[in-house]
Amino acid sequence: MCGIVGYVAPQPPSARTQEVLLDGLGRLEYRGYDSAGIALVTPNGLQVRKEAGKLENLRAMLQADPTDGATAGIGHTRWATHGGPSASNAHPHRAGRIAVVHNGIIENFRSLRAEVENAGRTLLSDTDTEVAAHILDMDYSKRLEDALAADPNVDPARVLVESMRVVTKRLDGAFALLAVTADAPSTIVAARRSSPLVIGLGEGENFLGSDVAAFVSFTTKAAEVGDDEIVLLRPESIEVTNASGEQVEPKTWEVSWDASAAVKGGFDTFMEKEIHDQPAAVADTLLGRVDERGELTLDEMRIDPSVLRSVDKIIVVACGTASYAGHVAKYAIEHWCRIPVEIELAHEFRYRDPIVSEKTLTVAISQSGETMDTIQAIRHAREQGSKVLAIVNTYGSTIAREADAVLYTHAGPEVAVASTKAFLAQITACYLLGLYLAQLRGNKWADEVADYLDNLGAMPARISELLETQEEAIFELGRQYADQESFLFLGRHVGYPVALEGALKLKELAYVHAEGFAAGELKHGPIALVEEGLPVFVIVPTPRRPMLHDKVISNIQEIRARGARTICIAEEGDTAVEPFADSIIRVPATPTLMMPLLTVVPLQIFACALAKAKGLDVDQPRNLAKSVTVE
Ligand code: F6R
Repeated sequence: MCGIVGYVAPQPPSARTQEVLLDGLGRLEYRGYDSAGIALVTPNGLQVRKEAGKLENLRAMLQADPTDGATAGIGHTRWATHGGPSASNAHPHRAGRIAVVHNGIIENFRSLRAEVENAGRTLLSDTDTEVAAHILDMDYSKRLEDALAADPNVDPARVLVESMRVVTKRLDGAFALLAVTADAPSTIVAARRSSPLVIGLGEGENFLGSDVAAFVSFTTKAAEVGDDEIVLLRPESIEVTNASGEQVEPKTWEVSWDASAAVKGGFDTFMEKEIHDQPAAVADTLLGRVDERGELTLDEMRIDPSVLRSVDKIIVVACGTASYAGHVAKYAIEHWCRIPVEIELAHEFRYRDPIVSEKTLTVAISQSGETMDTIQAIRHAREQGSKVLAIVNTYGSTIAREADAVLYTHAGPEVAVASTKAFLAQITACYLLGLYLAQLRGNKWADEVADYLDNLGAMPARISELLETQEEAIFELGRQYADQESFLFLGRHVGYPVALEGALKLKELAYVHAEGFAAGELKHGPIALVEEGLPVFVIVPTPRRPMLHDKVISNIQEIRARGARTICIAEEGDTAVEPFADSIIRVPATPTLMMPLLTVVPLQIFACALAKAKGLDVDQPRNLAKSVTVE
C-alpha cells in the first residue's frame, strides 16, 4: 500500500507543481513512509529526486538540490513490497524517455524482467515497478519512432496512451500506474487495475491520487477511474478510455471531507478506516504468491527446502494480537501439513528452556517487526539451531532482517494502536505458509492447494459484505452496552483465538473487564462469572460442522439459563442459534478454517463502537504504544 499523486499545471512551468506534489505526499504518508520521491517535467527534461526514509528526507534533498519549474509531476510515498526500503527502490523509476510511479504488485514481473534484461537494459532496483517502467518505455519509444516517421506532428501523449493500453494488458496483478515524459510536457498518462486511483478536477489544472487526500486541499471535485481504464490528464482536459480504446464518461462527485478527514478516508478514526481496509489487506497479502509454474512462493527464502521437509515441529512466537494469529495457524497447519504446532508468547519462550532443535521451524509473527520480546525469542531459537521464518508487515524491520525466511503481510502501515488489518493479513499469511509447507512436503496436491487459494481469494468480498450489512447494527449494540463493565467471549476450535482477540480489543479500547475462553472450558470454572445480564459474545461454528456447532449451542444454553445476554456471531442461515441469542450478527458462509477472517471483524467493530460511545480515544488508547521495543 503506497501513496501516489499526480499534477498537471498550466503554462508557464512553475514551482507550484513541486509544492502540490509534496503537499499531496504529506497527506498520503499514512499509506507508507519508507521512502518518497517525485519526477517533474521541466523545460530541461525529466527531473527525478527520491530518498529513503520519511518525506522530510526528500524535502531536505530538494533544498540541497533544487528542481526547475515544471508543468507536470508525479510523486510517491512507499510502503515496500518488492525490494527493501532504499533510495534505489524508491519511486519514481526512470526508464528511457519516461518516469513512472506505481502502487500495487505486478505478479508476472519475473518473466518481464527477463525480457527487459534480454533487451540489453540495466535495472537499477529490485522492484517490479522498474520492470514495468522499462516495458512501457520499450513499447513507447518504438511506437513513437514509427508514429513520427509517418507523421512528424504526431501527439506523443496519445502514443503514450496507446502504449499504456497495450502494456497494461500484459501485466498480471494489481496496479495504479502514472507515467510522465518530457515529450508531452503538460501530461500524465495513468492506468489502474485493482489498486485505487482517483482524479481531482481543478480549474485549469488537474490531479491524480491514490485517494482524495492527495488533492483535497486544492479541489473537492473528484472523478472515478475504473479497472483497466487509461487516463490522459492535461490541465484543461481529461480523457478516460477503456481497454478497447472507447471513451468512458467518468463518474464525478463532490468530496465533502476536509483535508484531515480525507486522510482517514472520511472515517472518524484511523481504526475505523483500517477495519474498512481489511478486504484490501487480505487481497494484497494474497497477491503475487503463485509463480509461473503455479507454485506458491514466499518473499525471501533463505531456508533450503530439504530443511523444511525435515521439520518435525513448528513453534510460533509472537505477542498479543499477533499471537492469536498464530493460534489460528495451529489449526490450519496441523490439519494441512500434519506437523505439530506450538504457540508461545515470545516473552515466555526463552525463559522456560523450550525444546528447540534443527528440526524445529520457529515462526515469528509481528506487524511492526520491531517487538523486542519477539526479537529476543527468535535470537534464542536461532542459537538452538532452529530456522526462523518471519511473518511481518514492515519491510526491512529487525525481525525480517534476522529471519531465515520472510513472508510479508501487505496490510500497509497500521496507524491505530489497536491492531485490526494487520491481524487479518497475518492470518492470511499463516494460511499461505500452511499451504506452502503442504505443497513442499507433499501433504496436498497442487489442485487441492489451488482450491484453498480460490477460497481465500473469495474472502475479501465476504469481509466487504459483512461490513456493508452488519456495521451499523454493531455500532448500535456498542451504544446499548456503553455502561457495561464486564464481557465474556466464547469460541471453540478456530473460534477460540477469535474470542481471545475480541476480549483483548475490548480491554485495550474500552477499558472494561473482558475475558475470552474456549467454550468447553466454561463449565470447568469460568461459568461462575455468569450472572444476570452479563453480555457474552459467542462465536458460533458453522452448522455444516454439527460436532462443533451443537456443542456451542449447548454452551449458549448453559449460560443463558444463568441469565447471560448472548450476542452470537453466526453464519447466515443458521436458524438453530436463533432461540438462544439475544442478538445475532451474521457472517457469510465460509469454510471453517477461514472463518476467523470474518468472525473477528464484528468484535473489532464492537470494541471501537463501545469506546466511541464512552467518548474514549480509539486510535491511541491509554498506556499503549504501537510498537513495543523494550522487553
Ligand atoms: C493489540 C496489539 C498488540 C500487538 C503486539 C505485537 O491490538 O496491537 O497486542 O499485536 O504488541 O505487536 P507486533 O505485531 O508489532 O509484534
